[in-house]
Amino acid sequence: MVKKKTCVFISGQGSNLKNLIFRSRDNSFPIKISLVISSNRTAKGINYAKKYKIPFMLINTKIRNYEFKVLKKLKKFQIEFICLAGYMKIVPDKIINKFKKKIINIHPSLLPKFKGLNTFQRALKNKERKSGCTVHYVNNKLDDGIIIIKKVFFLKSKDNEITLKQKTHKLEYSAYPEAIIKIFRYR
Ligand code: GRF
Repeated sequence: MVKKKTCVFISGQGSNLKNLIFRSRDNSFPIKISLVISSNRTAKGINYAKKYKIPFMLINTKIRNYEFKVLKKLKKFQIEFICLAGYMKIVPDKIINKFKKKIINIHPSLLPKFKGLNTFQRALKNKERKSGCTVHYVNNKLDDGIIIIKKVFFLKSKDNEITLKQKTHKLEYSAYPEAIIKIFRYR
């Protein structure tokens, strides 16, 4: 199988990045992580790029037209697919349009519920019975594209933001690779 050259965009911890790096070592996994882009120069996730010798790029999204630099880099590394993993910035339209149906995101709620930030806090406040994560295609609206996979767990009365985060992350580590396998199964 020819693996799709993939770029992972991060801003923080990078535990989903780490998980994808491990999964992509499997010959039958459809993607290879060829590039990491971080919007935050102190993101812990950059250490995984360093440790596993994956080229990485730090970007400053405050600089006007920074997206052209990003597009240039993506071209240089022949990137065919993009995974957002804890990327906290809006992806510019120019990048989304170039990667239509080739850019996906993982979100820590059962979309369309709780788009945006503070999902755990809002789920608790709303007394949700269940929560989980969603992998979806990225379009020009926030957390809005076609859904690829959702994974669900049921809340317990003693759950708090910390436990919800832990449970969600655990589900994410199976949801993100499964979504990627699903996408490429029939391509
Ligand atoms: C994940 O919960 C993901 O759903 C959200 O940001 C978090 C990133 O975690 N978009 P990590 O940086 O992969 O550890």
